[in-house]
Amino acid sequence: MNSYSKVLLRFAALFGLFGAFLGSHMAGAGSIAFKSVHAHILVVGWLTLFAWAAFYKLFYTKKSMLATIHVATAIIGAVGLTVGMWLYYVRPFDMPDAVNTVFFIVGGSIMLLSFVLFAIIAFLTNEQDNPSH
Ligand code: HEM
Ligand code: HEM
Repeated sequence: MNSYSKVLLRFAALFGLFGAFLGSHMAGAGSIAFKSVHAHILVVGWLTLFAWAAFYKLFYTKKSMLATIHVATAIIGAVGLTVGMWLYYVRPFDMPDAVNTVFFIVGGSIMLLSFVLFAIIAFLTNEQDNPSH
């Protein structure tokens, strides 16, 4: 397994575990305060990172600077977006609104950048990028 696929798969597994746990907590607590955080931990952290892990296993097994930046922004963005959402929507700490908002915007923007890089990689990828095919 190449290192892009492996690191994405492991982070996806951790996001999946934590997101499902948070869903169970929400159901148990009868509160939807964490709804958006739970939703994004799962749709971004679990589903998206897992899809990208599969992409680097099946379609793009070489190494490149673009792919390294894509994988780094995927992980930093998924953590930044979900922590930012938690700070912004749940407000667990008594921090100034601007700090919560900036965290959310920066995390969300890094995740958005990751999607842009993935789109570029997807269009640049051809069969030679996976020598086993
Ligand atoms: C242990 C498993 C899970 C539990 C107990 C759980 C529980 C919940 C609960 C209680 C809500 C709030 C529903 C409401 O608005 O009243 C919710 C929302 C949501 N969950 Fe989960 N969930 C689980 C797994 C998942 C998984 C695996 C995904 C996606 C991969 C997911 C995606 C979502 C999304 C997108 C929402 C927001 C839906 C909306 O805005 O209407 N959940 N979940
Ligand atoms: C750049 C990354 C993303 C950002 C900044 C973002 C931001 C947001 C925001 C601000 C909301 C409204 C939350 C609320 O009002 O409580 C939302 C809702 C939602 N987003 Fe995203 N999102 C991103 C990526 C995604 C992706 C990749 C998916 C699916 C694969 C997704 C699925 C959803 C769903 C299902 C909802 C409605 C459930 C909820 O209330 O949270 N989002 N998103």
